[in-house]
Amino acid sequence: MAKILLTGAAGYIASHTWLALQAAGHEVVGVDNFSNSSPVVLERLKELSGRAPVFEQVDICTPALAGVFERHRPDAVVHFAAFKAVGESTSQPLAYYRNNIGGLVNVCETMQAQGCRRLVFSSSATVYGVPERLPLTEDAPVSAVNPYGATKLMGETILRDLGASDPLWQTACLRYFNPVGAHESGRIGEDPRGTPNNLMPYVAQVAIGRRARLQVFGDDYDTPDGTGVRDYIHVCDLAEGHVAALRRLLESPGSLTVNLGTGRGYSVLELVKAYEQASGRPVPYDIVARRPGDVAACYADPAQAQALLGWRAQHDLQRMCEDSWRWQSMNPQGFQA
Ligand code: NAD
Ligand code: WQD
Repeated sequence: MAKILLTGAAGYIASHTWLALQAAGHEVVGVDNFSNSSPVVLERLKELSGRAPVFEQVDICTPALAGVFERHRPDAVVHFAAFKAVGESTSQPLAYYRNNIGGLVNVCETMQAQGCRRLVFSSSATVYGVPERLPLTEDAPVSAVNPYGATKLMGETILRDLGASDPLWQTACLRYFNPVGAHESGRIGEDPRGTPNNLMPYVAQVAIGRRARLQVFGDDYDTPDGTGVRDYIHVCDLAEGHVAALRRLLESPGSLTVNLGTGRGYSVLELVKAYEQASGRPVPYDIVARRPGDVAACYADPAQAQALLGWRAQHDLQRMCEDSWRWQSMNPQGFQA
């Protein structure tokens, strides 16, 4: 069993991964600056795991990160900390490059100086740009279609170059598809600040009555019902994907890049229907214009994750909606309640 440092530890995906790593027997140290999360997460993690989380409030772009490594001496890092709003990245590109690229470089330099060279990186299906062929395999062409996507693509390049420069570096780039859902307890989940950018949290807020209607961005795509198709993946499956990737890095040499998706796409309207069923609430919607930059369909070929990590997603769309709804209905105002 290993000691794992999580950056962005209080965030949506990291908090679920924290529990999964502990359940697999690892020791976890978390850092976060709460730029997009709440300290209440730590109380909930304590309640769910029965142990006080080991945590330091640190900005990963600062020299203070070195002190965390000196105090805790992690065997590996799972690097979640980043800004993630696509629209905001086009209006504030420098903030995204500074936090996402500057942060990654500081994490890697600090690791190098401390002799820790195992890193799991939160990449994204956004690196596939506009897919030429579906399902997406890891050897599909990559491109950046917005500054956020550019930071993920550049992050992968930095790690590849690092691995080429020194074979002691072992990295796993995990290309997440569309993470949704929440821990089955309903005690942690996704808590977007302001208006949600992503579909499921928006649908959840309509179902609970925080927002009146969903806007469906286009129904004239070349898909079965005309609305966009995506590969939604339960955040707890995603968390297990990180446990599997770390196991691989700890047990075998080399680096890897894998998709974490289910392999199955659902349309916006299919998701809305599943959510209505799970919540027992209506989700009224209007069809509006397409959102600029959206693609018609995007879903993974998850075979490589199965072959290399022995991992595959377990939860279906109904379960993703049920767990999202439990979190939303138990915490109507998120962690602020
Ligand atoms: P999130 O915003 O909930 O979590 C990110 C966490 O990092 C937050 O708690 C934030 O406070 C923290 N953070 C940001 N900058 C920091 C800094 N400089 N120092 C310390 N902490 C900092 O987002 P998430 O959805 O959990 O995403 C986690 C990772 O996964 C991100 O790298 C994101 O780009 C990537 N990703 C997310 C999705 C998605 O749809 N949610 C999809 C693909 C990839
Ligand atoms: C899903 C579908 C929308 C909101 C984004 C990022 C990507 C990754 C995951 C980080 C699309 C439609 C949405 C709404 C709608 N993040 N939609 N009404 O765009 O696939 O991916 O999050 O790496 O980089 O781009 O996810 O949840 O925003 O949209 O109709 O109010 O729902 O058009 O078809 P997307 P999403």
